[in-house]
Amino acid sequence: MPVWSDRPRPNPTPCRDGDEGLFEVTARDGRARLGKLHTKHGILDTPALLPVINPNIRTVEPREMWDRYGIGALITNSYIIWKHAKLKDKAVTDGVHALLDYPGVVMTDSGTFQSYIYGDVEVGVEEIVKFQRNIGVDIATMLDVFSRPDMKYSEVNEAVEETIKRADRSLDAAQTTLINGPIQGGIYPELREKSATGMAKFDFAVHPIGGIVPVMEQQRYREYTKIMLSTIPFLPPDRPVHMFGCGHPMLFPMSIALGADLFDSAAYALFARDGRILTPWGTQKLESLFEWPIITPCISSYTPQGVKELPSDERITLLSKYNLEITLAELSRCRQAVRDGSIWRLVEQRSHQHPALRDAFLWLTTNPATADLIKLTSDNIPLNETTSSQEITNSGRWEKGWDWILQSQFTPRKGGEQWAGSDTINRPHIIAANNLLADRWHPSDSATQGGDSVLIFFGQSGPWRDKCDGIVAKLMQCLPGLEIMVNTPIGLVPYALEDLNPFCHIEGPKWLWNDKLDMVKITTSLERLGLTGRGIIPIDLRKENFESTIFDKLIGIEMASSVELIDGIFTITDREVFQNSSTKLNRRKARDKLSVLFNVDQETADEITESMEFVVNKYGRIKNLLSPSGHHLASFRLGDGGLSLTNHGAKELFQRRRRSLPTQFSQASISPYSGEGLAIVVVNDDAEPYVRKGRNVFHGFTLACDPWLRPGEACLICSQTGELIGHGVANSTADDLRVMKKGVAIKTRDGIKQED
Ligand code: GUN
Repeated sequence: MPVWSDRPRPNPTPCRDGDEGLFEVTARDGRARLGKLHTKHGILDTPALLPVINPNIRTVEPREMWDRYGIGALITNSYIIWKHAKLKDKAVTDGVHALLDYPGVVMTDSGTFQSYIYGDVEVGVEEIVKFQRNIGVDIATMLDVFSRPDMKYSEVNEAVEETIKRADRSLDAAQTTLINGPIQGGIYPELREKSATGMAKFDFAVHPIGGIVPVMEQQRYREYTKIMLSTIPFLPPDRPVHMFGCGHPMLFPMSIALGADLFDSAAYALFARDGRILTPWGTQKLESLFEWPIITPCISSYTPQGVKELPSDERITLLSKYNLEITLAELSRCRQAVRDGSIWRLVEQRSHQHPALRDAFLWLTTNPATADLIKLTSDNIPLNETTSSQEITNSGRWEKGWDWILQSQFTPRKGGEQWAGSDTINRPHIIAANNLLADRWHPSDSATQGGDSVLIFFGQSGPWRDKCDGIVAKLMQCLPGLEIMVNTPIGLVPYALEDLNPFCHIEGPKWLWNDKLDMVKITTSLERLGLTGRGIIPIDLRKENFESTIFDKLIGIEMASSVELIDGIFTITDREVFQNSSTKLNRRKARDKLSVLFNVDQETADEITESMEFVVNKYGRIKNLLSPSGHHLASFRLGDGGLSLTNHGAKELFQRRRRSLPTQFSQASISPYSGEGLAIVVVNDDAEPYVRKGRNVFHGFTLACDPWLRPGEACLICSQTGELIGHGVANSTADDLRVMKKGVAIKTRDGIKQED
C-alpha cells in the first residue's frame, strides 16, 4: 500500500470483537513507542496525526486524507456540529462518518477548547458525550475544564478537581463508546500528577494532555517538556497519550521520545490561511520564499512565486496540503527512528533547529537528575545557567520523570555511537549504560595485591583487546586487586567489558581519544564505580613502549608473582602462572558480563565463573561460556558485547535465585535491585504450553513479575507453579506487564520442555 496515492483506498475493516479500545505496543525505543489502537473503524497505527476538520470549512477533504494521504484518524469538534442545525441533523441521521465522508477513525472534541477561546459553552457534561455517542464517533471527549498556564495554583486545582468529578458521569453517558479523559494541571507539576493519577482510575480509552495550546503558542517548550514529564509516567501504559492541539512537526520527535502517541493539527490549515509553511525547524512565510525548503508531491510542479500568484482559495488549499505532507513526513521519520532506536538522536538533531527547542532539550537532558553526569562533560552548560531555583525545588519530581525515561532504555544496542559534541554523553541510553555499570559492576577484592590502584588506558579508540589483552591478563595474575579501566569519550568502562556497546564503538574525530585524562571526570566516574580514593596509573596507548611504562609504574608495588621486563615485554617468570593468565582474564570477562548484563551478584558471578570453560574463536575471542560439565550456558554477542542466554544458563541462574518468586506486579523502581539476578515473569496456565514451545509471551497471560524487568534485557519465564519454562528478552517494563492487555510482552528465546 503506497503512503500517498491517487487511487481510492479500501475502507478499513473493524477490529476483532472484544478488541475495541485495546492499545498494543509493537516496537519501542525507550518510552517512544509504535502502537496499534483497535477501533470499529480500523486499527490505527501510532504515533499518528489526526488532522482537525472544521465541518464548516473543509480545506482538505476528509476523503482525500484517507485515500491520498493514508490518514487513519481525524478529529472534529462535536460542539460545532451540535451548534449548527444542518450539521447536527445530518450527523444524527447518517452518523459523523457520513457527515464528513470519511471511513476511518473519527475522534471528536467536546467544546472545552471553545470555552477557553470564547468563555462558557452552552452544552452540558452528559449532553455533549451522549451527542458524540449518538452520532457514532469512535472516540469521544468529555467536557474537561481548561487550565491556562497563567492561572493561579488554586484555579488550576479547581479545574483539575472539576474535571475528575465529571469523569464518572461522562463515562456513564458514553456507554460503550471509547472516550478521552483529558489531563489538566497547567504548569504545576504536582497538579499534572494529581490529574493523571485521578483520571487514570477511570476507564478512559485515551488520555489527551490538555491545556498545552497556549504553552506551545508562546513557544514555552521547556514547560511543555515538564508537563509531559510530570504527567505521562502517571498514566496507564495501555492507553495512548494524545497531545491536544499539538500539530507542529517541530515538536514531534521530542514529544514521541517522551511517550506521546497521538497528535492533532489544525496548524496545517491555519498556517496556510496565514501564508505560512510548517517545517520540522519552525515556520516560514511564503512571502519570503524563492525556493521550497522541502519538496513534496503536491508542490513539485509549482515555484513559490507561482503559488503566491494563485487565487486565494487555491493557494490556501495547496499550502494546507503542503503543510500536511511535510507534517506527515516528519511523523514517518519519527516512526522509523523508533524502529531504528534513534529517536533521541532525532530529538537532539532537531533541538539545534530552534532556540526554544534547544533550551527544552538541554533542560531535559542536563536537569538536576543527571547532575552527576554533567560533571563528566567538559563543555556542558553549567547547571545554574539553565536551571532556576524553582526547578531545583522541583528537582526530585523531574528526577522521577527522567528516571522513568532512563529505565526503559535499551542497552547495549548494536551499531556505532555517533559522536555529536557534548550532547552525546547525555543521550538517555548512554546515561542508562553508565548507570548500569554504576549499579551492577563490582571491583575485585581490594585487599589483594594492587587493590589500592586503578590503571586507566587512554589515548586510543577500541577495540582494545588485540593490543591489551596480553598485558591485562598478566596484570590480573600478578596484581589481582588492581582494577583496569579504559577511558572512552562517554566514560570509563572496566577493561573486561571493553567490547560492550556503546563504550566500545564511538564514531567521532580522532582527537576524542587523544585528549589527556580529565581528572575531574575520571574522579567522578571512579566514584560511581566504587573506586574512590585509589591511586590512578594512566597509560597512554599511543606510546610504543606502553608495556615498559606499566612495568616502570609498578616498581615497588607488591606482586602476587614475580615479573621482569624482557625486551620491553612485561613478563611473568613463572610459566605455570603465566599459562593461567588468559583463563583468568576470560573468567573476569564472563564475571563482569554476568554482573552487568544479567544482574548477577558478585559472589554468585564468581562462583559460576570459577570453573567455567570457554569456547573461543580463531582470534581468541570468547564465543561461548560452558559449565564444567560442558553445558553451553551463554554466548558472547559480537555485535553489541551483550550476552545471549541458553536453556542451561537459564536453569543455572534460576537455581541460584535466593529471593522467592514474584507474586504480583510491583511498580517499584529498578535500581535498588542490583545483584538480584534476571527478572522473572510468571505466566498463567494458558500460556505455559506455548512458552515451553518457544512462543512469545503475550500481555494478558502474565500473573506477576519482578520490578526490575527492563525492556531489551533478558528475563526468565516461570509457570504458575514456579517451574522455569523458558527465557526471553523483555519488550516491556513491569508496569506495562501489569496493565497491558494486548501485544508481545516477552520475546521468548527458548522454551524448556517438561522432560528437559
Ligand atoms: N483542545 C486543545 N486543548 C484542549 C483541552 O485542554 N481540552 C479539550 N477538550 N480540547 C482541547
